[in-house]
Amino acid sequence: EIIVLDYGSQYNQLITRRIREFGVYSELKSHKITADEVRKIAPKGIIFSGGPNSVYDKDAFKVDPEIYDLGIPILGICYGMQLMTQDLKGDVEPADNREYGRAQIKVTDPNAVLFKGLPEEQTVWMSHGDLVKRVPAGFEVTATSKNCPISSMADDARKFYGIQFHAEVQNTEYGHEILKHFAFDVCHARDNWTMDDFIDMQIEKIRETVGDKKVLLGLSGGVDSSVVGVLLHKAIGDQLTSIFVDHGLLRKNEAQEVMDSLVGKFGLNIVEVDASKRFLGKLDGVSDPEKKRKIIGNEFIQVFNDEAKKLDGIEFLAQGTLYTDVIESGTDTAQTIKSHHNVGGLPEDMPFKLIEPLRTLFKDEVREVGTKLGMPDNLVWRQPFPGPGLAIRVIGAVTPDKLKLVRDSDAILRDEIKKAGLDREIWQYFTVLPGIKSVGVMGDGRTYDYTIGIRAVNSIDGMTADFARIPWDVLQNISVRIVNEVPHVNRVIYDITSKPPATIEWE
Ligand code: XMP
Repeated sequence: EIIVLDYGSQYNQLITRRIREFGVYSELKSHKITADEVRKIAPKGIIFSGGPNSVYDKDAFKVDPEIYDLGIPILGICYGMQLMTQDLKGDVEPADNREYGRAQIKVTDPNAVLFKGLPEEQTVWMSHGDLVKRVPAGFEVTATSKNCPISSMADDARKFYGIQFHAEVQNTEYGHEILKHFAFDVCHARDNWTMDDFIDMQIEKIRETVGDKKVLLGLSGGVDSSVVGVLLHKAIGDQLTSIFVDHGLLRKNEAQEVMDSLVGKFGLNIVEVDASKRFLGKLDGVSDPEKKRKIIGNEFIQVFNDEAKKLDGIEFLAQGTLYTDVIESGTDTAQTIKSHHNVGGLPEDMPFKLIEPLRTLFKDEVREVGTKLGMPDNLVWRQPFPGPGLAIRVIGAVTPDKLKLVRDSDAILRDEIKKAGLDREIWQYFTVLPGIKSVGVMGDGRTYDYTIGIRAVNSIDGMTADFARIPWDVLQNISVRIVNEVPHVNRVIYDITSKPPATIEWE
């Protein structure tokens, strides 16, 4: 294992991600971790991440100085390199010009372990205000650049290394190789982290934690909760009960597909609650998007709790919390702290203990686990779907008729996107009903019917998005089919706005 200490860089998750791609387990840890805690983990190596601070800031993040005495190799990246320099009595200074973007470095020591076998000149990604002016005793300079004479430094005796550039981002030409050299040639880590190991480890751990007690899981039909369900079922069988609340706002055949697969194929014990009437009743006449969200959220918690109360002797609640959620909840760097509520509003008189078997995984790793567990692609590769479901894709008040227009057109869109082989390429795609009617002509008659909007975007995390460039002929097939197959639709439009300024959903 290689641990990454978090100094708040926006790239710090990427470092753990890259290391895991080499087959070496890696976790992001708070920079407040003590030398004793590190000793217990006994990592093969430690990476200090970059961060927005200057080492001279009053509240600059530090490291427990005893960590330098553990005999464990350390790589400092950007701020991490400056921190190491300051701690080991070198000099850090503000740069004359803040440097941000691509830069050329020149490797000055052909034997430098991090640059082994790599070209002398390389493109790297820099992003810093300070730089190392003088290396600490024991270090030598291993690479330079025009604006940053000490771009990289090494102390092979203590196995301490520093790089001013970000090896973890794509724009650093040989970033992968540099990190690999640190992991394997410096730390001698073994590449034995596989998803099969992970599954076996988790199953054992779940059995140990749960014993003969009972576990409850809220299934949404999404990737994360489905994978948790199948994994837990594999570990503890019928000691797991799942509740699946169908709020009537799911996509076409979705509830059925989830049940067929999880109950039919995997044998999960699922309490399916058809609450669509209850939800539609509460939503009747409500057109404000935020009000709709609130109603659905509250109702969801109530239905779930009502069902949970009917069950006896539950001690654990399982959740599909992912590593990104854990990191977002904070590892003590103010920049990344964002409170995270996966299942908000659980009643306080239900003191469950939490089980979160996916909390060390990234989304694509969860998909890999799902596939290894034999789950079908339609569950594992499901696109993001909002909790309030189709209710926020019917603009304004929701009625059963309008829901049907969105649901049926969405099914056609998904079918055509899949046929075109784009279903794994486009991050999220769906239809909306803006609620406008327009004039058309069909056969010999004039029509006055609804417009359907197509929304398709590419995004990394949903925070920003670019509209997807769906080929014209695919769009044409979708349009023709929607108008022909969905009664009361006579026009199809394509949303070509990105986020910002628009959002992904229309409400
Ligand atoms: P927006 O529309 O804010 O969407 O650009 C970003 C991502 O979040 C999803 N989304 C939601 N998910 N509850 C959810 O669970 C919501 O109320 C909600 N609103 C938007 C949206 O589908 C997209 O993936």
